[in-house]
Amino acid sequence: MRTLNEVFGLAGRVAVVTGAASGIGRATAEVFAGAGAAVVLGDLDAEGAERVAAGIRAGGGRAVAQGVDVAKRSEVESLVARAARDFGGLDVICNIAGIPCDGRLESLDEKAFDRILGINLKGVLYGCQAAIPLLAQRGGGSILNVSSGAIDLPVAGYGAYAITKAGVAQLTATLAQEVGDRGIRVNAIAPGATVTAFTERHLKNPDGSMNQEAFAGFITKMQSMSPIGMVGEAVDQAWLMLYLASEAGRFCTGQVWRANGGSTHGR
Ligand SMILES: NC(=O)c1ccc[n+]([C@@H]2O[C@H](COP(=O)([O-])OP(=O)(O)OC[C@H]3O[C@@H](n4cnc5c(N)ncnc54)[C@H](O)[C@@H]3O)[C@@H](O)[C@H]2O)c1
Repeated sequence: MRTLNEVFGLAGRVAVVTGAASGIGRATAEVFAGAGAAVVLGDLDAEGAERVAAGIRAGGGRAVAQGVDVAKRSEVESLVARAARDFGGLDVICNIAGIPCDGRLESLDEKAFDRILGINLKGVLYGCQAAIPLLAQRGGGSILNVSSGAIDLPVAGYGAYAITKAGVAQLTATLAQEVGDRGIRVNAIAPGATVTAFTERHLKNPDGSMNQEAFAGFITKMQSMSPIGMVGEAVDQAWLMLYLASEAGRFCTGQVWRANGGSTHGR
C-alpha cells in the first residue's frame, strides 16, 4: 500500500506557479516545495518571486524564479520552458497571477477591460497552452487555474473581474475535455475571501499602512458570511491546490473547487 506521503506529496514532480511573489501564489509555491516538488516561480514582481524562491532554497527546497507578465504569451512560454531546462520536465502548472478591476460595468473603460482580460483570462490560456505539450511528454499532469467566488456571488462594482473568472471556469471545464486523453487533468479553484494584498487593497491608509479599523470591519463582514465564521488564509487555497496537483486528486478533473468557508451559500 502506498503511504500518505506518496499519495498526497509531490516528490519528484516539477511545478510552474505564476503570481508566486505574493498571497496564494506564494503559499502554493511554498507548500508545493515543502511537498517535494521543484518549483519555477513566475511573477511580474521578479524580485519578489526571487525572494520567495530564495526562501524555499534556504529551507532545502528546489526553486528558481523568473519575471513574467502573463499577459504576454512569449513570456509565459519562456517561464514554462524553465521547468524543462532547469528541472527536466513539467508535471503541474498553477495559473494564479491575477488582478482586480473595480468599477461598474455600465462605465467600464475599454482599456481597463482589455487589461484584466489579458491578465486574468488570456494569461491563464497562455499558461495552459504552453504547459500541455510538456505535461503530455510525461504522460500527463495537472493544470490548476484560479477562478473566484465572484462567479457565484455577483457584486456591483466587480463585474469585469467576475467575467474573467467565469471565463476561467469555462476554459477549465472545456480544456479538461480536450486533454484528458493525454492524462492531463484540468481544475480550477474559486477562492472565497482570503487575506492577501489583493483583499487588503481597500483597507489601507493613504500612506500605505493598514487601516486597522477598516481591516477589522472587513474581517467581521467576511466572517459573517461564512457558516463556520472563517476568513481564509492563502495557505487554505494552497492546500486545496496540493490535493488537486497530487495523486490524491487523480479522479478530479474539469471542476471548480471552492475553499470559501461556505460563504457563497450564505449563513
Ligand atoms: N485573495 C482573495 O480573496 C481571492 C479570491 C478569489 C480569487 N483570488 C485570485 O487569486 C489569485 C491570486 O491572488 P492573491 O489574493 O494571492 O493576490 P496577490 O495580489 O497577493 O497576488 C497576485 C500576484 O500576481 C502578480 N501579478 C499581477 N499581475 C501579473 C502579471 N501580469 N503577470 C504576472 N504576475 C502578475 C502580482 O505581482 C502578485 O504577486 C488571483 O488570480 C485572484 O484573482 C483571490
